[in-house]
Amino acid sequence: VTAKMTIDKEYKIGQIDERIYGSFIEHLGRAVYEGIYEPDHPSADEQGFRTDVIELVKQLRVPLVRYPGGNFVSGYNWEDGVGPVGDRPRRLELAWRTTETNQIGTNEFVAWAKKINAEVNMAVNLGTRGIDAARNLVEYCNHPSGSYWSDLRISHGYKDSHKIKTWCLGNEMDGHWQIGHKTADEYGRLAVETAKAMKWIDPTIELVACGSSNRHMATFAEWEATVLEHTYEHVDYISLHTYYGNRDNDLGNYLAQSMDMDHFIYSVISTADYIKAKKRSKKTINLSFDEWNVWFHSNEADKKIEPWSIAPPQLEDIYTFEDSLLVGSMLISMLKRADRLKIACLAQLVNVIAPIMTEKGGEAWKQTIFYPYMHASVFGRGNALHTIVASPKYDSKDFTDIPYLDTVSVHDEENETLTIFAVNRHQTDVLSLDADVRSFEGYKVIEHIVLENKDVKATNQYNRSNVTPHNNGNAQVDNGLLNAHLPKLSWNVIRLA
Ligand code: AHR
Repeated sequence: VTAKMTIDKEYKIGQIDERIYGSFIEHLGRAVYEGIYEPDHPSADEQGFRTDVIELVKQLRVPLVRYPGGNFVSGYNWEDGVGPVGDRPRRLELAWRTTETNQIGTNEFVAWAKKINAEVNMAVNLGTRGIDAARNLVEYCNHPSGSYWSDLRISHGYKDSHKIKTWCLGNEMDGHWQIGHKTADEYGRLAVETAKAMKWIDPTIELVACGSSNRHMATFAEWEATVLEHTYEHVDYISLHTYYGNRDNDLGNYLAQSMDMDHFIYSVISTADYIKAKKRSKKTINLSFDEWNVWFHSNEADKKIEPWSIAPPQLEDIYTFEDSLLVGSMLISMLKRADRLKIACLAQLVNVIAPIMTEKGGEAWKQTIFYPYMHASVFGRGNALHTIVASPKYDSKDFTDIPYLDTVSVHDEENETLTIFAVNRHQTDVLSLDADVRSFEGYKVIEHIVLENKDVKATNQYNRSNVTPHNNGNAQVDNGLLNAHLPKLSWNVIRLA
């Protein structure tokens, strides 16, 4: 199989907002407790955070972390999580039917985010609560001093304000499973009034309105249109969420699911621009894909969780090699819309549908999906480029014209590097790639990283890394023409400088 492409430095899609490599920590399962926080762990620092986990998160260069939910936020009283730890209440947590001890709250999480050099993307509760709790939280976090809530923060030991820039107006409010589920009109009205109050306290913040929980919701598109009718001039982003899975064990169809994501992104852009046209607005609403991943392996196990347990192992998907290919393709899909997609959060970061897993008292380890996420985050900074691709195609149960070659390129002008991310979806054949890179005069291949495996179901486990990348790809450039062999079913990172 052969494929051709042309990459030109002038064909810019747009500057990649680094927040596209964000992630997510929810008070769910063992994400917080036994994940990032385990005071008795040998590697715990003075605040009880696992430094082995911090080290792995730093390898991912995560610039932004969404917190504290997710479904959790729709029943959360943020006041429960601040002040002396000993005084904090235990609550029945209705979204995941567990007990929340509130040992970690806003201030501790902000402190943890600093340790990993990330910003916090804070979600407010628009399920059981509303304008008042949200504006108080902005005052508590962002107001310097001299008011009730800002002085309370200072009395809790945090003299400097947290300066949180990005905020989510609730979570998945279109879903019947959400605590305080609303219609689009109900949510739109609440979101706009909350947005106004939050921005009156701190006009520098940016707000994300809830879009649909996925593209297959019955209310999809109408939901976005109605919510934006209400909120357009007061918010900055509309959110998207999606999770995929290989439930039918149909690999060709599974690897094409990033095309559903392409379609989803395109549809939300179109809907946002329709409201822009209708309102004759000069403002453009951008996209925040603030939950995306593979999630299906743990579904059955989660039905057996004892209600009201504390930090049980929930949503602990163990990812296969094939999952890492789809995660790579999802990253490619998002980079292809770097012009409008400014924030994205891999859901989630530790233990809960996560690239990083921990053993209580033991080591932290990397799942298969860790690698494409890390490669994109570390090497995918700069301008995303339109790439002209001619690839043979196949059809599957739900998709037609699926290119075997899935790819995007990123040009870092400052460091003069070009990175090609590519997935070969072919299940039996090597894909021979010829790329015209003549506009990158003098560039040579410095590295061709490959993630491949004989067994599509191979997983990594505690103390056993079966799926790891190697640097033995054969890409080379001759006279402005790049040739590379992409092994069957592989994720490739070809770096030129
Ligand atoms: O990330 C897990 C859950 O998925 C989140 O809590 C929710 O927003 C979504 O349904």
